[in-house]
Amino acid sequence: MNAFVYIGSYRQQSRTKDFTLKLLDSLKEQLEIDEDIFTACDVNIRECQGCCKCFVCGKCTIRDDMNILKNRMINSQIIIFASPVYLWQVPSNMKKIIDRITYWTHIFQLIGKIGICINVSSGNGNKMVADYLQFVMEILGTSVISNISLQEKEMINEAVYNSIIWAESKKILNKIKNSQFDFSLRQEEAYIALRKDMMNPANNKRYEKEFWFRNKYFDCIGFKELYQREMKIE
Ligand SMILES: Cc1cc2nc3c(=O)[nH]c(=O)nc-3n(C[C@H](O)[C@H](O)[C@H](O)COP(=O)(O)O)c2cc1C
Repeated sequence: MNAFVYIGSYRQQSRTKDFTLKLLDSLKEQLEIDEDIFTACDVNIRECQGCCKCFVCGKCTIRDDMNILKNRMINSQIIIFASPVYLWQVPSNMKKIIDRITYWTHIFQLIGKIGICINVSSGNGNKMVADYLQFVMEILGTSVISNISLQEKEMINEAVYNSIIWAESKKILNKIKNSQFDFSLRQEEAYIALRKDMMNPANNKRYEKEFWFRNKYFDCIGFKELYQREMKIE
């Protein structure tokens, strides 16, 4: 399986990176994974300029590394967003990536892929970041099978830290082995709202509307049906 991994920390000794790499190593003991790992310091990504052209044309006019990241995401079965907690939110480098793929949430670009969210704090704000990353992953279309929150105190004692890595990787492996991927109520609600919006003649987001037509999204009555069709579930 190909995995796209984005780690939203600039720190050389990033705890988020440490956990993510160790989790991947643990997963790789039982699963063949070919991963593409990007951290905040090895990509050149500019902030969204707010022109909204991506909604209309399906393309961004900014020339930077975002196209590389988008291609890797599209070609991966597993998407991992790993983020430190900054004032109970994701850091700006993480938000930059999310802003630049916002138009994908209108077409469920990552439907059928496995989503994994990770967040690391020094002691508070984890829930807010976990909820936000889950929301982002779901409306991008992924099936979120794991959303891990960690605090620094859990990473100090090696035995405790290792047992968390082992337990979380075991849960992920079980879900992958048993194909326990599912859709959520939030995805169903998003599908209904988007379907209505795509049918509205006043909506001028040409690319998105065409995507819905071309990919026969309108043939499905809800996200469940679309998900089952994409996953080829009878
Ligand atoms: C600007 C900034 C804001 C932060 N805000 C929080 C916070 O709200 N809650 C918290 O527990 N830790 C906070 N931290 C601490 C980081 O979440 C913590 O050090 C984390 O382990 C950093 O991850 P990293 O080592 O992968 O960069 C903050 C750190 C910075 C630099």
